[in-house]
Amino acid sequence: MARITGRTILVVGASSGIGAEVTRLLAAKEVRAAGSACLDIPGDALDPRSAADVATAAVDTYGSIDVALLNAGQGPDMSMDEVSVAEISQIMALNYGVVVNYLVPLVQQLGSQPGGGLIAHTNSPAGLIGVPRQGPYGAAKAAARTLLDAARVELAPRGIRFTSLHPGFVATDRVSTDGLPKPFQISQERAARYAVRALEKEPAQAYFPWTTAALVRALRVLPTPVSSLILRRPASR
Ligand SMILES: NC(=O)c1ccc[n+]([C@@H]2O[C@H](COP(=O)([O-])OP(=O)(O)OC[C@H]3O[C@@H](n4cnc5c(N)ncnc54)[C@H](OP(=O)(O)O)[C@@H]3O)[C@@H](O)[C@H]2O)c1
Repeated sequence: MARITGRTILVVGASSGIGAEVTRLLAAKEVRAAGSACLDIPGDALDPRSAADVATAAVDTYGSIDVALLNAGQGPDMSMDEVSVAEISQIMALNYGVVVNYLVPLVQQLGSQPGGGLIAHTNSPAGLIGVPRQGPYGAAKAAARTLLDAARVELAPRGIRFTSLHPGFVATDRVSTDGLPKPFQISQERAARYAVRALEKEPAQAYFPWTTAALVRALRVLPTPVSSLILRRPASR
């Protein structure tokens, strides 16, 4: 298992929710180990220039980036009969574009470091199955997963590793009022513990909690008419 202490970790989207909790947990581990340093860099992940500047600022301050967690994203309730083209494009930018904006400069940076590094992304089960009212969000997450899957194989010789996190429903402030059903929801503290463990173990894909992982696995192997029936019931308003 890789040690998560004594390394430079960039968390993109650390101001609230899962990212904030992961950052708190990582800082606590650092304090116990050797004392920690933390740089808070404001930036718009939708802007490629801003993303590159954030990566540069981290390297200028700490000399390298050992782990990057690309966590910025959002999955609002979106019904396909109400959503506009512009709204779908916006969700694509927020959940796929932000990954691209960071991925390109990070690959350059990590590829130039002797030990390479880890790029992790907070994906979602919605990227694996067609969840009603989450279609545009799920499509963006699926695109991000495919991009990272390809990059993992391509960039392994340069020491760059990739981990996609797939948390189930997490009780963050943002989702507390969205009205979507949330089976097997876990606290953001528990989600952060799973996430940090994944940053340490570096699996290609991390699914948590196991209950959601089992449900998603079942939905993926069931015949489509059966899985559609299961998904349709909680999605109906
Ligand atoms: N909550 C869940 O049930 C759940 C389940 C599976 C996956 N996820 C994924 O987990 C990640 C975090 O979700 P969360 O529930 O913790 O949401 P959250 O509390 O809304 O956190 C999202 C983070 O992303 C940042 N962010 C959003 N747009 C940004 C932008 N343009 N530039 C820079 N930062 C930006 C936010 O910062 P600002 O507010 O400062 O912009 C915030 O720090 C997302 O990728 C989400 O898709 C969530």
